[in-house]
Amino acid sequence: MSKERVQIFDTTLRDGEQVPGCKLNTKQKLTIAKRLDELGVDVIEAGFPISSPGDFNSVVEIAKLVQNASVCGLTRANKKDIEVAAESLKMAKKPRIHTGIGTSESHIKYKFNSTPEKIIERAIDAVRYAKSFVEDIEFYAEDAGRTDNEYLARVCEEVIKAGATVLNIPDTTGYCLPEEYGAKIKYLKENVKGIEKVTISCHCHNDLGLATANSIAGVQHGARQIECTINGIGERAGNTALEEVVMILKQHPYLNLVTGIDTTLLYSTSQLVQQKMGIIVQPNKAVVGDNAFAHSSGIHQDGVIKNRETYEIMDPADVGVSQSSIVLTARSGRAALAYRAKNLGYELTKDELDVLYPEFLNFADLHKEVNDEGIHQLMEECKINFSK
Ligand code: KIV
Ligand code: ZN
Repeated sequence: MSKERVQIFDTTLRDGEQVPGCKLNTKQKLTIAKRLDELGVDVIEAGFPISSPGDFNSVVEIAKLVQNASVCGLTRANKKDIEVAAESLKMAKKPRIHTGIGTSESHIKYKFNSTPEKIIERAIDAVRYAKSFVEDIEFYAEDAGRTDNEYLARVCEEVIKAGATVLNIPDTTGYCLPEEYGAKIKYLKENVKGIEKVTISCHCHNDLGLATANSIAGVQHGARQIECTINGIGERAGNTALEEVVMILKQHPYLNLVTGIDTTLLYSTSQLVQQKMGIIVQPNKAVVGDNAFAHSSGIHQDGVIKNRETYEIMDPADVGVSQSSIVLTARSGRAALAYRAKNLGYELTKDELDVLYPEFLNFADLHKEVNDEGIHQLMEECKINFSK
């Protein structure tokens, strides 16, 4: 069975940059955009051009720079936003306008003080107007996660007729369960006329820690684009993490879904975004966290030393991490100590290890981690004549 391609839509520079304290200047955004293009993302959402002159300028410069990916600008469903976005994307090789409106009951009632019928009219007008500037129009039904499926299907059908090429179904508030989100995508696939002409996109937020699971449920039910950010940064608890969805699809080949991402650039891209945005990646972050390939308990270390696959489901080299690490702590066993000592040139006999190991445990109880220096120190203190 041939593999189907899932488009990766990166919104690090738009939804990701909405994180408080994350503001980037144009130069920093250009550095990230260049890296995203090398990484192989299909779409770079470069910003929200009407939001500020700085953001407009960044989108203009990114549009000029990017060689491979489509460059996208966000708008609300109004003429001015769309005109400004179209202007900012003029130099893009592949421009996309991302326009839309809230479709859930609470958005219609509280945000717009409007009615479902009027919202559909605004959605149609926005898509038609955007289409008069560029061919590629993505429509977002904001808060689709909490929107009634029947109404959502009507909105989708109308915007497809108006010219939308991509339908974004955001779980804006991160509320859905994976089954529910997957069922929503399935419902749209089965009930929207013309849906086969467009790409369905997942845009999931992480308020309940389900953004990645929901995005995967979405593609399992027919979506073919995932919107995500590097390190999962974004509003509140963030967006779907790019590195997670990409590696899930890679590590589960039976899903028959592939992306165009060069996964060996994932770790360095994560580091670049961490550095430019100043948002520290948590050590236990899946795929790119400092501990993602670090083993510290004795049982795990023993297994990994015998064969990496006992406790690793990914090859660190596949994400650009040079090797897994065996971290020495008071939970480490003899195998790990012998392994780390050997890497430092100390070939230990069983008797030598019998002497060293209890001393190591005493030392480790006083330290969070025993580093190379600590191992050398222990060797000295044990005063055994180690062959080096
Ligand atoms: O979360 C959301 O609904 C969004 C839209 C503006 C696409 O970011
Ligand atoms: Zn969002």
